[in-house]
Amino acid sequence: MTASRRYHITTFGCQMNKADSERMAGILETMGFEWAEQPDNADLILYNTCTIRDNAEQKVYSYLGRQAKRKQEQPDLTLVVAGCVAQQEGEMLLRRVPELDLVMGPQHANRLQDLLEQVFNGSQVVATEPVHIVEDITKPRRDSTVTAWVNVIYGCNERCTYCVVPNVRGTEQSRTPESIRAEMEELGRQGFKEVTLLGQNIDAYGRDLPGVTPEGRHQHTLTDLLYYVHDVPGVDRIRFATSHPRYFTERLIRACAELPKVCEHFHIPFQSGDNELLRAMARGYTHEKYRRIIDTIRHHMPDAAISADAIVGFPGETEQQFENTLKLVDDIGFDQLNTAAYSPRPGTPAALWDTQLSEEVKSDRLQRLNHLVAAKAAERSQRYLNRVEEVLVEDRNEKNPTQVMGRTRGNRLTFFTGDIAELKGKLLKVKIVEARAFSLTGQPVSPI
Ligand code: SAH
Ligand code: SF4
Ligand code: F3S
Repeated sequence: MTASRRYHITTFGCQMNKADSERMAGILETMGFEWAEQPDNADLILYNTCTIRDNAEQKVYSYLGRQAKRKQEQPDLTLVVAGCVAQQEGEMLLRRVPELDLVMGPQHANRLQDLLEQVFNGSQVVATEPVHIVEDITKPRRDSTVTAWVNVIYGCNERCTYCVVPNVRGTEQSRTPESIRAEMEELGRQGFKEVTLLGQNIDAYGRDLPGVTPEGRHQHTLTDLLYYVHDVPGVDRIRFATSHPRYFTERLIRACAELPKVCEHFHIPFQSGDNELLRAMARGYTHEKYRRIIDTIRHHMPDAAISADAIVGFPGETEQQFENTLKLVDDIGFDQLNTAAYSPRPGTPAALWDTQLSEEVKSDRLQRLNHLVAAKAAERSQRYLNRVEEVLVEDRNEKNPTQVMGRTRGNRLTFFTGDIAELKGKLLKVKIVEARAFSLTGQPVSPI
């Protein structure tokens, strides 16, 4: 191997990619690499990429161009593109950026050491063939010492007509309950207080594992998994994401209400409030069903926080259909909503339809929706005012170092005055004295 010993990873995209980056960083450190804060000081640069929308993909090319130029003066620089753009483009990326050493899809993240050894032996490598994801034996280098991601299912078997994820992440592969619990126990021992279980469609957890109950139900479901892991020592809070309305069950809701460590926060994307559009998106539910799910959650947990994702400007969306989305948002009152203008993606059905809307219409609708989202979130936030909330302290407030930052069980960012050295990782009772749309300010209730 060369003397290259410093690495930098830039991560784009979702929590799945962040979790993959933490595992790849762990592998690099096991191999003897050290973290370089500045990409320009690194001997190995890895871009973990996202292609969910066109602007996410384009960002990668501009970053890559800069490093490719640097490589012409520093030939021993190792350039890696991992993640979803790597999977989508494969060999084409090498043709576009011949300076690349390694192009690797998300299913290959845990194989980074193997792949790099081939690179250091002089090969240019493309790893995008579907593989069975091997259990990770290295220790991830986690960004936080308080909260951690734990993958429970990789891939997605849905076929939403706008979405690249099934193409780039492959078919569903669930980890066994035993390996998930083992990872959580290790996290508990290391002092992590909160775990977020991750899957693109986490309700599909266990469908691909063997075992059926006497009633004919899959033995391993997300609900069963929650019961199986909820008592892991040291871990005080459990979250999970992302939920799909098609598979969301009342059994799961009851489990969340019953299990004290499972936080009252649900991330359930609805995408559109219009039934015709939902059908065109192949989402497999109606807005009525979505509303029933939220009603059931609120019946069991009146104070639960609800967040979601929505797309505006899907091909053929009429003004009336868009207003149905506004109406759903107005009726439900989300605590948070990630909104996006539809972006046609390669290899997806909707990209080929001839009913595409203009950028003007899409951005106008996006603005109108965002406006409503902020107003509703501000309204929802008011319920916290003067209440005492349990906050897990994660970090310093970047914008005000005399304050610390944490989250309520409902996932609201909360700031209060305090010393991070003393408070990091603590669960505190905090009285909320100020409520903004997406964050709160509080005062710890004594004794700390
Ligand atoms: N598995 C999750 C979300 C995966 S992608 C689910 O089923 O909801 C995250 C979000 O990106 C999606 O919820 C959707 O709102 C958005 N998204 C996906 N494809 C998109 C596209 N082509 N254009 C705009 N937004 C998109
Ligand atoms: Fe994409 Fe649909 Fe799968 Fe979510 S459920 S990742 S939107 S295909
Ligand atoms: Fe992006 Fe891949 Fe996640 S496309 S949103 S990084 S699954």
